[in-house]
Amino acid sequence: MCGIVGYIGHRDAYPIIIEGLKRLEYRGYDSAGIALYNGKTLHVSKTKGKVSDLEARFETKASKHGTVGIGHTRWATHGVPNDINSHPHTSNSGDLVIIHNGIIENYESLKQELTARGYTFKSDTDTEVLVNLIEDVKLQENVKLGQAVQIALNQVIGAYAIAVFDKNKPEEVVVARLGSPLAIGIGEKDNEFFIASDASPFLEYTKDAVYLEDEEMAIISRKKGVKVRKIKDDSLVPTYVQKLQLNLEQIEKGGYEHFMLKEIHEQPKAIRDTYRGRLLRNEAIIKMAGVEDNMKKFLNANRFIIVACGTSWHAGLVAEYIFEDLARIPVEVEYASEFRYRNPVINENDVVIAISQSGETADTLAAIKLAKSKGAFVFGVCNVVGSSIARETNAGAYTHAGPEIGVASTKAFTTQITVLTLMALRLARAKGTISSSDFRKYLLELEMIPNKIEKSLESDAHIKIISDIYKDSNNCLYLGRGFNFPVALEGALKLKEISYIHAEGYPAAEMKHGPIALIDENMPIIVIATKKGHYEKVVSNIQEIKSRKGKIIGIVTEGDQQVKTLADHVIEVPETLEFLTPLLTTIPLQLLSYHMAVLLDKNVDQPRNLAKSVTVE
Ligand code: G6P
Repeated sequence: MCGIVGYIGHRDAYPIIIEGLKRLEYRGYDSAGIALYNGKTLHVSKTKGKVSDLEARFETKASKHGTVGIGHTRWATHGVPNDINSHPHTSNSGDLVIIHNGIIENYESLKQELTARGYTFKSDTDTEVLVNLIEDVKLQENVKLGQAVQIALNQVIGAYAIAVFDKNKPEEVVVARLGSPLAIGIGEKDNEFFIASDASPFLEYTKDAVYLEDEEMAIISRKKGVKVRKIKDDSLVPTYVQKLQLNLEQIEKGGYEHFMLKEIHEQPKAIRDTYRGRLLRNEAIIKMAGVEDNMKKFLNANRFIIVACGTSWHAGLVAEYIFEDLARIPVEVEYASEFRYRNPVINENDVVIAISQSGETADTLAAIKLAKSKGAFVFGVCNVVGSSIARETNAGAYTHAGPEIGVASTKAFTTQITVLTLMALRLARAKGTISSSDFRKYLLELEMIPNKIEKSLESDAHIKIISDIYKDSNNCLYLGRGFNFPVALEGALKLKEISYIHAEGYPAAEMKHGPIALIDENMPIIVIATKKGHYEKVVSNIQEIKSRKGKIIGIVTEGDQQVKTLADHVIEVPETLEFLTPLLTTIPLQLLSYHMAVLLDKNVDQPRNLAKSVTVE
């Protein structure tokens, strides 16, 4: 949550920071601010609203000058989104300025101590407390900024990625991280540095980046370069510069109106990239180093416990069906936020699979740490390379979806299912729970999924028409069974997230235990009724809806006739094996929510109150 950007060098910092903040808006977008130092004065400008609102302020009032600056786009934790609570925050003397992503949990007691010493506070934020704590340490101990930050952070409980600037020391910016990501871009010329929550703000300037680890800080100096230190004991850490693989094209809309639409359309490629080099059909093998190297752990496991949040949790639910069906391994799927506080019974014979697009979700990270402390083997399925979860897990497999920027997750979901399916197939083969001929058949079908998604995407115009009919609904119900029950949950989540229409996902057969009471002629019900699986049973559920006058949108297998006669609308997807149907049935549900939100004029890529990367619990 929250995006931070900074620059120190020879160029104007303003355009770099503003453009950088726009790229980080997926992390939070309820307020934005920037601090620029022009050699004489420190100019801070901040506002409630989006980065574009901040930009508008500069058009009229503010000075854009300065070759050093820090900027912030916020997802509010402490204090409502308003101008005063926006970052950057300035210390009482006006000398220090800070941006912060995270939460300072003991800010109340720190605030009391500082207040007793005469400090005053304008905002309700924990961040203003931190900048004054740093100032207080600096003055009391008579130390330089870097040391003051280090001493202050040792008094802090919580999570942070921060950048601090002192106008009395304009040649440097101090950054630190604990629990929230922070990357430093090393400019091509030696005296230029970029700071950001991820590398996207500085991709066009440099491909060399240093990623801070937890409990590390860095003093970034025009003259002395980057010096990384341990926050705990101030010891020096060798600086490791990574070459970024990401390119600018991957983080641009590429002609699409929204990132979400682009990412929906990228799914065929993303899935191919995810199974490339792993699914070797001609040789009839699946090659996944993280699984192969730990085969014993997987095969001897009592059970798998999948932990995740949001859409990734839904991918975990799909995987539960797939692992149990193909590999006959018992699986439990847990919300990471519940698991971590539940005192779960877990031991070294359990395998925990953590799923996360961002690899930064605080609850998932905490669940992993808990599982590891109890001796479980933890396997990560992440999209962001080098993310905290990828590093914290014992082994893992990346989804190769590429950057996902739309807040509503799409390609991350289908690529997570792809990785988990590959794992299930590999383990099923190793356990002998599927025959070699079935294995070959399954590999072939999985390989054909991207083409079938392309086919499903052709329904776009038809789905837009359906979306227009139902866009003013107050409620929607999504029903599915078996492998497609989690898809119903995911479809409902997508609609809620971006159109703000209340939606519920339900196992189709459970409808009669409650949701059926909601059905009348105003209720659209999206029913996943593909030919494989419990088709006849779902058709009976459709009959039940019809007798109560609900409006039925059926997601059906190409050529289906039976549902067509009952439903108000059908959307076809190509035929595939039952366990692979989620990869296809998800597509029309993504498009349906996308079009409804666009027709309602909602901000699809940045829905209210949400953020892409949830680094607070
Ligand atoms: C947020 C995002 C969701 C995402 C969830 C879990 O709520 O808005 O799209 O599914 O976090 O994120 P993760 O990065 O762990 O998959």
